[in-house]
Amino acid sequence: MKPGKTLPSTITIFGAKGDLTRRKLIPALYNLYTDNHLPPVFTINCVDFLAEDEAAFKGDLLAGINEFSRKGKANDEQWATFAKQIHYLQGDFTKAETYVELKGKVGAFEKQGTQSCTRVYYFATSPRFIEIIADALYEHRLCSRESLDRIVVEKPFGTDLASAKKLNRFLAKRFSERQIYRIDHYLGKEAVQNIMAFRFANYVFEPIWNKRFIDHIQISVAEQVGVGKRGGYYDSSGALRDMIQNHLLQLLCIVAMDCPAAYKAEQIRDAKTWVLKNVKHYTPTQVFKNVVRGQYTAGTINAAPRAAYRKEEQVAPDSNTETFVAARLYVDNERWRGVPFFLRTGKSMPVQSSVIVIQFKDSPHKIFKDDMVPNRLIISIQPELEISLLFESKVPGLQMKLKPVEMDFTYQEAYKETIPEAYEALLLDVLQGDATLFMRADQIEAAWKVVMPILDAWKKNPDKQLYKYKSGTWGPAAANAILKPNAKEWFTLSSNGVARKKDNMRIA
Ligand code: BG6
Repeated sequence: MKPGKTLPSTITIFGAKGDLTRRKLIPALYNLYTDNHLPPVFTINCVDFLAEDEAAFKGDLLAGINEFSRKGKANDEQWATFAKQIHYLQGDFTKAETYVELKGKVGAFEKQGTQSCTRVYYFATSPRFIEIIADALYEHRLCSRESLDRIVVEKPFGTDLASAKKLNRFLAKRFSERQIYRIDHYLGKEAVQNIMAFRFANYVFEPIWNKRFIDHIQISVAEQVGVGKRGGYYDSSGALRDMIQNHLLQLLCIVAMDCPAAYKAEQIRDAKTWVLKNVKHYTPTQVFKNVVRGQYTAGTINAAPRAAYRKEEQVAPDSNTETFVAARLYVDNERWRGVPFFLRTGKSMPVQSSVIVIQFKDSPHKIFKDDMVPNRLIISIQPELEISLLFESKVPGLQMKLKPVEMDFTYQEAYKETIPEAYEALLLDVLQGDATLFMRADQIEAAWKVVMPILDAWKKNPDKQLYKYKSGTWGPAAANAILKPNAKEWFTLSSNGVARKKDNMRIA
């Protein structure tokens, strides 16, 4: 349970008929409700332009909960009371009458109570509506109280630095920064939030968390899924914009940041932004030496055939969009100078596995005959949630023989509590006005600055070094080459635990 207080709230979702609402937002709100985290008085206005009978709309939301909620099927009684608070409002986002009607509903709800109400507006729409809706909320004075009214903006936040800056300026003219919640759902994941606790509540790691002791860091988010039905969006985005600019750079920030002055939103966001500002920018030649891109071709995953990216729905048959990126980045500050941060993400890979590996240096002083495997810390974000430390141990017997073993912490064994979905944590934060896990304007821009040299170099050389990889494989071989001399292969943690047993990261 979050410590903050949740005031009576009106939650408005724009894009209510979209996938995000059905798969993530409503299941998250429903779970917050059944776990007693929502305030006793709340209402959810769902806005979309499609004509929809309210009962049918709610039926579809229920089906979404039954299919996607971490808790499985909804309870009939709880759903019935929850659903009473949901209202469908058919309206065109570009028409004033939509906002007039919304204002009527919000006003009517607020008149019922004596307490102030929080208003949250969630933009679960295509990015082209962000400015339109933001402007209308401003004009209709629906979001004018700085401490109570908030907007939530989904990614992609801009398509490059210039558009992100423009959008930031646009929003800043209408709302104060503390009203704007730029969401990156990776920051709400339980195992990601735990990295801060792990680093800053365990003093033992802080003295060795730097270039003196760490050889390199790998941050890898492998996805088994392809682009599915999102080809239209993805083909103009690609893995660099879709995953690296936000999720992976945010993971990098949490791993590389200095300890913030306090566990407070601004201090934490300052510390993270500082990391992004220190990431070394590459020249076009350096881009091709340090960043590898790939695109999946036809293959097989779990014995099922997978089409090539270029054959996916709404993808150009000659598309050069990357579905895989591996990059070697440097955080050029006192703590990290010279330590490579390897970031990798790809679609249509053999397993789903998001893992961060802190590879410590080899001991300079060797007193044993056996080869030693340097210590390694593995933070697994999904599907397993665990932290393991690899260390050398004496094999039982009459000789001094060494073998690496692992000390494991798994959530499953350590806790009985169920793990909330990222969207549950983040929606509750918005309702309570806690911006710690959201992106500030300068953070977003700093992240775009990191990827811009790469985007520019690729734009100028659309075919250069665009490697193909077969669906169901770990991406192009060139992605291993950038690990040298620090490692031979990317560390992977497959669900059957096979990969971790093999020492694939011995320092060359
Ligand atoms: C989204 C990307 O932000 O994150 C998707 O747009 C990606 O392409 C998804 O599949 C991954 O999120 P998760 O939580 O499934 O790892």
